[in-house]
Parts: sequence; structure tokens; C-alpha cells
Amino acid sequence: MSIISVVGPKGGIGKTTLSINTTAALTRALSSGKNTNRICLVDLDLRLPTITSLLDSHPSKTFYDLFECLDNKTYQVDFLQNIYQLATWFQSYIDEDIQEDHAKLVDAFRHYQSMNTSLFHSSEFKFGDAIQELMIQRSEIKSVPQIRTLEPVLKKINLREFRGLLEEMDKSASPAMDEYINYIEEYGFSILGGEVPILGKRAHRKRINEPEFLLRFLEFIDGVFQNFEHVIVDTPAGGVNHMSSLMNVIDQVLFVFDLSNNIAINGSIDAIHSFIDYYEEFQADYAKGQLLGLDRAHVNRIIMKKGKGDLHQSIKNKKLGIVFNRCQSNQEIETALSMMRDYLTTLDKYHQYKSRIQIVGMVPHHKVINITNNRKTLFYNMDVGLSERMDLVAKGILSENSVCPSLADDDKTIISYLNKFKKPQLFDRLTKVASSAN
Ligand SMILES: Nc1ncnc2c1ncn2[C@@H]1O[C@H](COP(=O)(O)OP(=O)(O)O)[C@@H](O)[C@H]1O
Ligand SMILES: [Mg+2]
Repeated sequence: MSIISVVGPKGGIGKTTLSINTTAALTRALSSGKNTNRICLVDLDLRLPTITSLLDSHPSKTFYDLFECLDNKTYQVDFLQNIYQLATWFQSYIDEDIQEDHAKLVDAFRHYQSMNTSLFHSSEFKFGDAIQELMIQRSEIKSVPQIRTLEPVLKKINLREFRGLLEEMDKSASPAMDEYINYIEEYGFSILGGEVPILGKRAHRKRINEPEFLLRFLEFIDGVFQNFEHVIVDTPAGGVNHMSSLMNVIDQVLFVFDLSNNIAINGSIDAIHSFIDYYEEFQADYAKGQLLGLDRAHVNRIIMKKGKGDLHQSIKNKKLGIVFNRCQSNQEIETALSMMRDYLTTLDKYHQYKSRIQIVGMVPHHKVINITNNRKTLFYNMDVGLSERMDLVAKGILSENSVCPSLADDDKTIISYLNKFKKPQLFDRLTKVASSAN
């Protein structure tokens, strides 16, 4: 399996366009005519998802529903589970079944004192008022023996009924993956996410920065990834920020270079730089056992699932690729390559990274793509010349970049690779298209 993240420094440079068409090209390369649902295209743009409307394919559930569902899971069900457990230990203590130094009771007491109640909606739960009361009384309970004074409020909570309600809630609290993955028969691949801008909602903006919540979100996405042979992730402008931990499971980062202006090229170079920085820091912290917060939690989960060796390998072999977009002349490619080499040389990183940064493909500036009329976004298969460009990108991905040149190669080699098409075959196909049009 491989996970490819398509990134770029800003909006409008072609990330979505290239994500969609790379997915189409990979599907064709893998399926040889049969639709086998081995590839998933993920719209990770939480602010302004566009893929579902561009492909005019509407999933029954989107990330918006996922957020609502995870919200319920993290801030209601988990919270209530904790309350249930501590109430049970407290009750056992009051009933004198256990002593005040019982380890579980001491744990429960500590937890009781530190629980965050602000996100719990007490009115939605039968024993919500009693729970509120229990939490308010915390200020007076300073030691384990004082738990006895909670007896009246604990009496208001029927633990058996509480458990029954909780079991019911838990059943519907985990998102069912299938409802979120939308297989499109017509294209032969699946899509995930999109449709509704979810960071527009204040509560959601807050959630995405909470480690507990984000971890659940990442876990769900990880789970989806496991179902596919290849995953293409259309990553929002700026790339990583709060999703940085997700980058730990990604095999290749494809940087889109918009060649039509130098500011965009500089932005893309800068995006590669941030990425290198992120990885170097991550690797160093990982080696020293000093990963923090979400990175650490996420990595621990990966290790639990796949083992340490796998993670180590994935960190070491992470691939960096470049796709040039909106190209109008070979000169532009040479300029971008030279800007890139200069920049890395200034950072003193050229020798270290020149062979690791690979040139995966090039897409010309083309009027077929420029038609913003939705369905033209999937230009793959509509224009032979463009399709072959995407086939090259797909070939690079399938070979794990072993066929692609790198920054260490000279410009001539790189440009000839990017323009390497079997001319007779292209000619054949063009004449076929022409004759079928007649
Ligand atoms: N090679 C190209 N030639 C012409 N137009 C392009 C090309 N690549 C992208 N576009 C157009 O640029 C616009 C922005 O592309 P998009 O993929 O949505 O960018 P992003 O996802 O980076 O914001 C779209 O209208 C798209 O059709
Ligand atoms: Mg986009």
C-alpha cells in the first residue's frame, strides 16, 4: 500500500486537479479495464472541500457527519464511561467493599479531580443533573475519605440503568467506515471527505486542535487507508499544520510547482523546506524518544498496529516528489530546477537531498484543464496528450520513484524524462481518436 499526499503552498496551483487525475491514471494502470476499487481519493481540505462537487458524486456521509459523530464519542460517551467507572469505585468505597488505599479508587479520585466537564452536554443525558452536581462538589472533596459525603448525590444515579444507556449510546457512537467511503462506479475509484465546509462551524474549529479529538479523526482516516492499495490525499494549502501527525503515515509527498509565476515556485520550494525541517525534527525527536503530544500518540498507535520496524522504515524511506504544473516551456523547468538547487545550497542541504527529491511529472498549461466547468476537472481520458502526462506520474508512483530522475540529474535528463512519450503510440492513438470522430 502507498499513501501519497499532494501538497502545495497555496490555493489555485493545481493540487486538486492533479490529485483527481493522478487517481484516475493510477486506477487505469492498476485495473486494466476492471473496476476493482483499489484506490481512494481523500479530500482533506476541511475548509473548502471541492472534490465531491467537481466529480458530481455525493457521499451519504462526509467529514461533517464524522466530526459530529466523533464529537459525540469523545465528549459524551467517553466522558460518561469515565463517570460510570469512578461512580462505581466511589460507591464500592461508600459500601465499604474496598479500603481508601485501593489503587483503583485512588486513580478514580485523581481522575475525578481533573476531569474537563466543559464539553459535556448534561441536559442530553438522563442523569446529567446529578453528574453536574457531582462535578460541582469537587471543590469540597479534598481527600479520598471525603468521598463519603457524595453519598446523597451518588444515590441519584442508578448505575445499572446508567450502564444500559451507555451501552446503547456506544453502539451508535463509532463511525461506520463504509458509509463514508463513496465508490464511484463510473471512475473505478473511491472518494472520502468533502461536500460540506466543516471548519466553518466554531465548535469544529475548536475540536480540530484538541489532541483527543484529532487523534480519533486520524485513527478513522488511518482505518480507511488500510482498505486500499493506494491513497491519494488532496492536502489543503499550507499542507501539514494540525495534520502534521498524519504525515507520519504518508509514503510520498508530491509537491505541486505552479510554473506560471515565480512567487508560486518560491512558495513550493519553501513548502519542501518546511517539510524537510519537519522530518528532520521528527526523526531526531523520535530517535531520542522525545516525540510530543499528537505525534507521539499517533506514532505509538502505528507501532502498536504495525511494529517498530515498519515505522522506522517508513520514516527513512519517505519520498519527496515534484510535479510541475502549468508548464509552457522547458526553460521554465530549468529555471525552477535552478531556483530549487540554489535554495537548497544556501541551506547547505543540497548534497543531502539532491537524490531524494525526485521529479515525477509535468503537466502543461492547457485549455482543456482551464475550463472550470466542473466535470472537465477530470481531464484524464479526454485528451491523449494530457493522459500520457498523468500516466507518467502514475508510473512514477507505482515504481516507488525508481524510474524518476532526481535533482541530482542534469536538466537535459530531467526534461527528456518529462517529455518521454512513445511517439508512434501517441500518433496511433491520435489517429484512432480522429477516425472515431469521423
Ligand atoms: N495545467 C493547468 N492548465 C490550465 N489550468 C489549470 C491547470 N492546472 C490547474 N488548472 C486550473 O486552475 C484552477 C485551480 O486548480 P485547483 O486544482 O483547484 O488548485 P488547488 O487545489 O491547488 O487550489 C482550476 O480552475 C484548474 O482547472
Ligand atoms: Mg484544492
